[in-house]
Amino acid sequence: MKITYYGHSAFMIKEGNFTFLIDPFISDNPHLDLDTNQLKADYILLTHGHGDHVGDALSIAKNTDATIIAPFELATYCERKGAKVHPMHIGGGFNFDFGRVKLTQALHGSAVFEGDDIIYTGNPCGFLLMINGKTVYYAGDTGLFLDMKLIGELNKIDIAMLPIGDNFTMGVDDAVYAVDLLKPALSIPMHYNTFGYIMQDPEEFVDKIKEKNYEGKVLEINKEYEL
Ligand code: NI
Ligand code: MN
Repeated sequence: MKITYYGHSAFMIKEGNFTFLIDPFISDNPHLDLDTNQLKADYILLTHGHGDHVGDALSIAKNTDATIIAPFELATYCERKGAKVHPMHIGGGFNFDFGRVKLTQALHGSAVFEGDDIIYTGNPCGFLLMINGKTVYYAGDTGLFLDMKLIGELNKIDIAMLPIGDNFTMGVDDAVYAVDLLKPALSIPMHYNTFGYIMQDPEEFVDKIKEKNYEGKVLEINKEYEL
């Protein structure tokens, strides 16, 4: 599978004939200078309503006819803004044309801020993306939770994408603990160094999990990897 990290928590995954964008925070992303019109996707996975995750999802969905997969309340919000959506909810999985998606819990908030209004968009989530025999666990914005052990027991995770920024999500040490619970073949850190609150050294995360005999990799921004 081909994976491109756009910084923050934004990824593109290509597998088979399908292209996925996850939490595509592109145009306001200080890590990037990328024209969103260049991005094409079949599916856009959104974990929660915060601006650094919904990002450019609505415009990309409209430009490319991509389907947004999100928790029901957030999916309904996107549908009312004109996007094609597939609503799901935590604990539920669905067999799509490309493979299977299952929503996992995330300990966080979820709301869209429009002018003076705060529009709550239900619970935040993480995703298990199962495609061509590979399983990716994208934790979303979350604190550490013990049910990650269950996610690790029920799924043979090939790649885990885990937030390490602290302040809004797990920090490095909690993310290292999460790896122990999830037991993924490869862990990729995300949600760091975008704003002042979440400055971290991602190599510290990789070094600490290597001490426990797990594999980790810091992805360079806007570079495609075959993983
Ligand atoms: Ni958030
Ligand atoms: Mn965030």
